[in-house]
Amino acid sequence: MYDIIHQLDDKREKARLGGGQKRIDAQHKKGKLTARERIELLLDPGSFEEWDMFVEHRCTDFGMAEDKIPGDGVVIGYGTINGRMVFVFSQDFTVLGGSLSETHAEKICKVMDHAIKVGVPVIGLNDSGGARIQEGVASLGGYADVFQRNVLASGVVPQISLIMGPCAGGAVYSPAMTDFIFMVKDSSYMFVTGPEVVRTVTHEEVTAEELGGAVTHNTKSGVADLAFENDVDALLMLRRFFNYLPLNNREKPPVRPTQDPADRLDMSLDTLVPDSPNKAYDMKELIIKIVDDCDFFELQPDYAKNILIGFARIEGHTIGIVANQPMVLAGCLDIKSSLKAARFVRFCDAFNIPVITFVDVPGFMPGTSQEYGGIIKHGSKLLYAYAECTVPKVTVITRKAYGGAYDVMSSKHLRGDVNFAWPSAEIAVMGPKGAVEIIFREEKSDPAKLADREAEYKAKFANPFVAGARGFIDDVIQPRETRKRIARSLAMLKNKKLENPWRKHGNIPL
Ligand code: HXC
Repeated sequence: MYDIIHQLDDKREKARLGGGQKRIDAQHKKGKLTARERIELLLDPGSFEEWDMFVEHRCTDFGMAEDKIPGDGVVIGYGTINGRMVFVFSQDFTVLGGSLSETHAEKICKVMDHAIKVGVPVIGLNDSGGARIQEGVASLGGYADVFQRNVLASGVVPQISLIMGPCAGGAVYSPAMTDFIFMVKDSSYMFVTGPEVVRTVTHEEVTAEELGGAVTHNTKSGVADLAFENDVDALLMLRRFFNYLPLNNREKPPVRPTQDPADRLDMSLDTLVPDSPNKAYDMKELIIKIVDDCDFFELQPDYAKNILIGFARIEGHTIGIVANQPMVLAGCLDIKSSLKAARFVRFCDAFNIPVITFVDVPGFMPGTSQEYGGIIKHGSKLLYAYAECTVPKVTVITRKAYGGAYDVMSSKHLRGDVNFAWPSAEIAVMGPKGAVEIIFREEKSDPAKLADREAEYKAKFANPFVAGARGFIDDVIQPRETRKRIARSLAMLKNKKLENPWRKHGNIPL
């Protein structure tokens, strides 16, 4: 018996070494942690329960029968983050470059199946050379098995991908179907085809970093949600991020007690909106001043900056925030910002997170590039997302809410539960200047008359009271009391119940 216990210890020791000390050193030399070191940092100390440590691949081609490493390049199991359960898989680059074999895929599928069954999120730490080349189609099938589970888990349990090394070829589509993708700067990249294929097919010269590095996906493509400096930073921030989320679609997010009073007034908000309607101000300032402890976890901060999205808390409860940002493109809605916000609203809706919307939007971005790019289809995704959303929705119009963008941004007409406006709000079909230039076109040659018309239009429509008179705005509030009014609204909406008609699924304009 004693011998068998020793054998087990030896076997475990061997498995823990993965591809061996030399490859571990190489991993460290690149500034990367090993698969197990990452799990240790991500999870609460001592909470990790590992499965399938002794799984080996079944491939016998290309000398693989002699090249078996227990665990087969991925560490899986479950543990806790701040006491809350999570399933994890962490690819081990020291074992055949973390490449995905049939058995490697089976291990990932095992945690995903359990996660769905018990209602617990899945975090994937990706560091892989892609399909195990020696295995051919068996490995491709393994990928598809993972993809299938990504889809089945979507909207049931939160899925988060942290890209910590290569992620190339079709392999990118598993993270792409998860809810959030975080990347590590300088050591992670994602692309469907690498620089060499690009050179051959399109004759473009591009480095892996330029093509699919963390900066690229956080600024240009919008594929990723955040970029972190290194492995440690990324894992610690992921722990923080996890605290905002519920474990599954039947639960509410955890409540974090706060000393920040719900009725805290912020007098500085009364002067946030400049007198000139053409002057910008920073919407982030408003967000930070009204949420608990000024703590706003922004997502995609460097992509489509004309809209802000992220998580925060009010009275300890998680909220999702969507806000037009007047500092960038005057806060107008374009293709990228619509997609960015639409996906976020849908996540919040799927996982019982109330959506707070701050509106200062002059409309949809005009121009051929937007029209040719399909702003009609993409803009309608945001409209669709808000319209189908049944979680509590509180909206605050701070300044402009013009045209179709007024409707889209969680208006009363899309079942906004509580819709506030600041006194500075202007709710109209368009801005006064544009409006009079159309309806009084014949007076264009007389600037003085046109100016009078503009002033008349402004007095009549560029305020929140016309919408207020129709009940489209529930109240015009003082900016300083925004936090208090949102907190009260959310408390009132705590037990909101609203269901959409039964259907297999809607047909969002993809
Ligand atoms: C088997 C692999 C492998 C793979 C890497 N290795 N990728 N083994 N299958 N896909 C092995 C290497 O042989 C090497 O083994 C070890 O992992 C480390 O690899 P290096 O090349 O030394 O590391 P590095 O220089 O850091 O380069 C990493 C890399 C490169 C950029 C990922 O290895 C690479 O280009 N690999 C191939 C990538 C690829 O084409 N994958 C298939 C993509 S298509 P030793 O024994 O020397 O340590 C795909 C389809 C999915 O994935 C489709 C889903 C639908």
